[in-house]
Amino acid sequence: MNAAIPDLTRKVAVVTGATGGMGQVIAADLVHAGAHVITIARNPARADALRAHIGPQAANRLEVIPGDLSRRAGVIAAAKTIQNRHNQVHILINNAGAHFSEHRVSADGVEMHIALDYLAAYGLITLLDEPLRRGQARVVNVASDTLNDTRQTSSQANPVQQPSSWPASTTSQNSIPLPGSRHSRPTHAPSS
Ligand SMILES: NC(=O)c1ccc[n+]([C@@H]2O[C@H](COP(=O)([O-])OP(=O)(O)OC[C@H]3O[C@@H](n4cnc5c(N)ncnc54)[C@H](OP(=O)(O)O)[C@@H]3O)[C@@H](O)[C@H]2O)c1
Repeated sequence: MNAAIPDLTRKVAVVTGATGGMGQVIAADLVHAGAHVITIARNPARADALRAHIGPQAANRLEVIPGDLSRRAGVIAAAKTIQNRHNQVHILINNAGAHFSEHRVSADGVEMHIALDYLAAYGLITLLDEPLRRGQARVVNVASDTLNDTRQTSSQANPVQQPSSWPASTTSQNSIPLPGSRHSRPTHAPSS
């Protein structure tokens, strides 16, 4: 139990990237503080290791949704599952990220740092808008300077260019509205 964390019984937290590094520590601390923690994991063995790390007494408060956050479909499917299961989300920690030494492009044709470190977080914030508002959520985005690397590879792929599979502005439930569309409202009030 981390004494700095208040009692989070009946609170719902979404923590991405909880199968490793910092996210594993955050998820375990939140579970041990009483929260129900949801994570999205692409590797079942790493999810099992997270469960073991949390321990049998608290592991029933860990919910693992299979998914790859570098893929648009993975973000949308995970958000739908969360929405269907939980009326409120009180904490969202967009922690999943990676630093690739070589240029990579996601399955959707997006530069990989943009896809995983930025668009996944943006997608979850946007698609979980209603449960986040109902939970008066605190949203934490873990950032890094990996976006500098995407600029260095801009001759191979322009990360700002919009792949044809991403709609510019839409109200469809199967898409993530992009910044500037009428659905992008950065208005989650931080709890005091
Ligand atoms: N470590 C640093 O020095 C540093 C510095 C600045 C910022 N950061 C940022 O801090 C955050 C955490 O860093 P860390 O070092 O703790 O990371 P880490 O140990 O490498 O763990 C990254 C987590 O993200 C998950 N992840 C990666 N790709 C994913 C995908 N496609 N779909 C779903 N989950 C995926 C990993 O899942 P798997 O278990 O499947 O791999 C893992 O749980 C990242 O956003 C990173 O950019 C880190």
